[in-house]
Amino acid sequence: MAKQILVTGGLGFIGSHTVVELQNAGFDVVVIDDLSNTTIKVLDQITDITGIKPAFEQIDLRIKADVKAFFDKYKVDGIIHFAAFKAVGESMHKPLDYYENNLGALVYILQEMRDRKLDNFIFSSSCTVYGQADELPITEKAPVKKAESVYGNTKQIGEEIIQDASKAHGINAIALRYFNPVGAHESVKIGELPLGVPQNLIPFITQTAAGMRAELSVFGDDYDTPDGTAVRDYIHVVDLAKAHIAALNRLIEKNNKEAYEFFNVGTGKGSSVLEVINAFENANGVKLNYKIVDRRAGDITAAYADTTIANKELNWKTELSLETALKSAWEWQKKQN
Ligand code: WQD
Repeated sequence: MAKQILVTGGLGFIGSHTVVELQNAGFDVVVIDDLSNTTIKVLDQITDITGIKPAFEQIDLRIKADVKAFFDKYKVDGIIHFAAFKAVGESMHKPLDYYENNLGALVYILQEMRDRKLDNFIFSSSCTVYGQADELPITEKAPVKKAESVYGNTKQIGEEIIQDASKAHGINAIALRYFNPVGAHESVKIGELPLGVPQNLIPFITQTAAGMRAELSVFGDDYDTPDGTAVRDYIHVVDLAKAHIAALNRLIEKNNKEAYEFFNVGTGKGSSVLEVINAFENANGVKLNYKIVDRRAGDITAAYADTTIANKELNWKTELSLETALKSAWEWQKKQN
């Protein structure tokens, strides 16, 4: 009997790619999504890729009674929790919406796990919890720093809530601290679907290349980096999705050494904004319009992962290159027009 896994936010960018890899790995998947930042079409696109239609429930996880009703209906063997608001800039204008959705929903799910003795919880966290780390590459020993954004704070507090719930109620849990997810599935049936003006670099690049944006603004070239532009660790979203399967297997097989663990999930390589622009142009044979502007408030200079612990403990490592990610992002963008 296949184990059934709940994926909240399962029709989102990282969620949908993770549902595909879960099905590929033989898991039975049920998706919860409130469709606030995606479309129901993604469910069919997942089904087109794997040939298996996940069970789907449209639920607003801020409604405690609806969360309880879900768990009355489904007895899941594990939960991967992606559902959250994720726009860094927006979070500064709507802090209470972010705390309610990103933390309220988390507490309701953990309460159901406590009451029903459910196990195996994976949390979508972010390298943003490190702020500007003192040392690079960033290891899991790096201190968590006061978040610069409400969004980042919801990830920090979320991890603390999970750690406390794990200790008090024996829920075994893993937080995956993502670096920068990019790219799209090789089938070009799922990818990043930013609604409105993209906040993140890659969708802004692909929309500029597609002529939807006049030009890309490069936020600052006066950072203390080789070419002056900020450095990040861009990980292919399919590699990131596979890290969730590895983490789930660790929990199901009870190989976790602590009730609560966290891992940095990146490639281990840093790329500057200008390096990404050049790589995109070379990979896709397109020329990109861009201009250097002032720094964006809240941005850090550089972040890239030390992947030693994740590689070893999760028995997982990235396999796809930045070039592959940028090619797939462009193929996905061209399908949107
Ligand atoms: C990357 C680099 C920008 C846009 C955030 C969150 C993180 C995760 C990913 C959700 C930076 C530069 C960007 C543009 C630019 N969030 N840039 N022009 O800020 O590293 O991480 O998104 O899952 O938790 O913190 O990602 O893609 O916004 O920016 O020059 O139009 O590209 O300054 O150096 P970021 P990003």
